[in-house]
Amino acid sequence: TRAEEEQLTEECKQLLSSLPKERGWRTSHLYQYQGFWCQPAEIQAIVSFQNHFQAYDNDIILATMPKSGTTWLKALAFAVVNRDHFPVDSDKHPLLTSNPHDLVPFLEYKLYANNQIPDLSKLSADDQDRPRLFGTHIPFPSLANSVKKSNSCRVVYLCRNPFDTFISSWHFIGSMSPFTLEEAFEMCCRGVIGFGPFWDHMLGYWKESLARPENVLFLTYEDLKEDAVFHLKRLAKFLGRPFSFEEETSGVVEKIAKLCSFENLKGLEVNKKGKSIKNFENDKLFRKGEVGDWVNYLSSLMVEKMSTIMEEKLGDSGLKF
Ligand code: A3P
Repeated sequence: TRAEEEQLTEECKQLLSSLPKERGWRTSHLYQYQGFWCQPAEIQAIVSFQNHFQAYDNDIILATMPKSGTTWLKALAFAVVNRDHFPVDSDKHPLLTSNPHDLVPFLEYKLYANNQIPDLSKLSADDQDRPRLFGTHIPFPSLANSVKKSNSCRVVYLCRNPFDTFISSWHFIGSMSPFTLEEAFEMCCRGVIGFGPFWDHMLGYWKESLARPENVLFLTYEDLKEDAVFHLKRLAKFLGRPFSFEEETSGVVEKIAKLCSFENLKGLEVNKKGKSIKNFENDKLFRKGEVGDWVNYLSSLMVEKMSTIMEEKLGDSGLKF
């Protein structure tokens, strides 16, 4: 909103004036910062994060494009990493009373928002058993150097097919969008969508996951939907906390999948009200939770257009939709 833009620092306003600019869906404009289309307040936060964030060896960063399953990934990773402190079947499990975004803060919307420099030393990082967990939409090349150069912190990327992600964004923005679905889709195909282009966002993490598989794990929403248990095991192993034989045989993995499932989270009181994300009601975070809902909204011409673009941009990277 305009009020938000007015709160920016002079330094940020100056930076914005030097960047390519397009009309946006949510804020009046998006700016292209380091190759990606972002809102003004996001850019200010990213710069602050880049300047001040100091990674710890055991940090875990959960990265996504907006609307590709961030809430789900935060819930899954939180449950996996904290299972010794919070047994999954406890009726006091934090996920039963807190929205996942309140358990795993966003770097750009929470910690580094509003020109603040947070004291992150209190986020239980002195305890090797409980690493700090952060969420972000920041593209890989724009992460703080201390994260990119670390050989020990872990980054998990959750990728979702761009058709569903676009439709999910469309519903999320809803009546706040000044564009028709067709106009918004055209912009998306040009890469102009929050943290777009899709292909570059995905490729950044994809390539890094191939180059440094110990540090970057690439998951997809569709795979998780198909077999959450299998991919939860991969996730736990990657995070250095593989499930033990006892855990596997006693159904801990299935219980985590169930606790974090769309149906379960959507039904909790805490996720029906309140605003864990600025300007959005929590219930907006849980819409349909399905693969392929785009068939109800996109024409075959639109699908063909985006498919061709994605094929061309992803090239021979090995990444496909
Ligand atoms: P739909 O709009 O297609 O339903 P994000 O968390 O990144 O904002 O992404 C939101 C999308 O993830 C929405 O997709 C939402 O319904 C879906 N979602 C939220 N929680 C989920 C869960 N636990 N399991 C699967 N999908 C979930």
